[in-house]
Amino acid sequence: MPANKKSQAFWKEFLHDHNVAAVSPSSPFLIKRLLRRLNLVHAHTVVEFGPGTGVATAAVLAGLPADATYLACETNPAFAAALTAWPDPRLTVVNDDSRRIKTVLAQHGLKNVDLVISSIPFGYLSENDRADLVADVKSLLRPGGKFVVFHQYSALMEPHLKRNFAKVHVEFEPLNVFPCFLIEGVKE
Ligand SMILES: C[S@@+](CC[C@H](N)C(=O)[O-])C[C@H]1O[C@@H](n2cnc3c(N)ncnc32)[C@H](O)[C@@H]1O
Repeated sequence: MPANKKSQAFWKEFLHDHNVAAVSPSSPFLIKRLLRRLNLVHAHTVVEFGPGTGVATAAVLAGLPADATYLACETNPAFAAALTAWPDPRLTVVNDDSRRIKTVLAQHGLKNVDLVISSIPFGYLSENDRADLVADVKSLLRPGGKFVVFHQYSALMEPHLKRNFAKVHVEFEPLNVFPCFLIEGVKE
């Protein structure tokens, strides 16, 4: 889908789905910043929370090996349906809540995840759900695996990642609507 169509689709869903939590998809600047943190040629199992119209999904898939598996978990039915129609055989889309990721991955026989990327609005979750979700991600990642949280309007998740991951790195992207943080944790 062309970028202007993606922006229109995003805006339309934002108007009636509170969980979309952004007026437009991640900017190309934010996506570039995300990609700089990822070592995709060695990644085989990737999970994404909240792909939306798929701007990060497309960029990450472009760098992954041909035999990789990419599972995207999206609560918005219209976004999930549009992504399900993508012809990439590596991509599986589930119209589900990321808080159920342990069950979803078990249903798909996936473990030892290399990378989890997430742009869901963590501010909308309860403190307990945030803590549980980060602990679940940690348990699903292989040693050395990475959790990257991006398109976050505050550094709310930094302490959560610091409690769970050996190495945490924080960046800020001013060229996005709205300017936002990217926070990365690497599992020991
Ligand atoms: C800020 S938008 C980012 C969309 C896209 N990744 C991007 O970068 O343009 C957040 C996305 O997360 C989805 N979302 C919100 N809460 C979610 C949850 N608990 N589980 C899965 N997806 C969720 C929304 O529907 C929306 O598509």
